[in-house]
Amino acid sequence: MELTLLVGTMTGTAQLVAQELELVWDDGEMKVQTLLMDQLDASVFGRPGVFLVVTSTYGQGDVPDNAKSFYEDLKARRPDLSRVRYGVFGLGDRTYAETFNFGGKRFDELLSELGAQRIGERVQHDASSGVLPEEMAAEWGEGWLALAKETVPA
Ligand SMILES: Cc1cc2nc3c(=O)[nH]c(=O)nc-3n(C[C@H](O)[C@H](O)[C@H](O)COP(=O)(O)O)c2cc1C
Repeated sequence: MELTLLVGTMTGTAQLVAQELELVWDDGEMKVQTLLMDQLDASVFGRPGVFLVVTSTYGQGDVPDNAKSFYEDLKARRPDLSRVRYGVFGLGDRTYAETFNFGGKRFDELLSELGAQRIGERVQHDASSGVLPEEMAAEWGEGWLALAKETVPA
């Protein structure tokens, strides 16, 4: 199975999460690739396999700067993503109570609007919790990967 991690980040934490997941998951049987969102557009969803959006939240509950053009491109072009299966690992901070984890939420809502189907629940890391995001991701990732494998047989 192929898996593409799509990373939206401002200060690199989401990228650390993706690196950890790639380390745990890329075992030869699975082909994992991490792409920063900077240069992406909607065509990335033409790739085979499943997708995991790993993104933080900034501003007034916005996606990070490096995710903005990708997000806006999807919103403007509205491709049919009904063949796409994806997960969301969101990063945020509960001290931003009104907009907690909105970056991941925005991607989740948009992808679902475009017909893509989510695998499992959207995860919300909370930077104020003291739990390291990469540790949370490694633990959560096992179950998510099993679900992904059921959804998209190799
Ligand atoms: C200026 C600023 C604004 C933020 N705004 C939000 C927010 O609205 N909602 C939220 O849940 N987290 C917010 N955060 C927290 C970040 O999303 C969180 O620290 C995350 O782990 C950063 O990941 P990154 O290094 O990959 O960008 C904000 C952080 C900063 C520094």
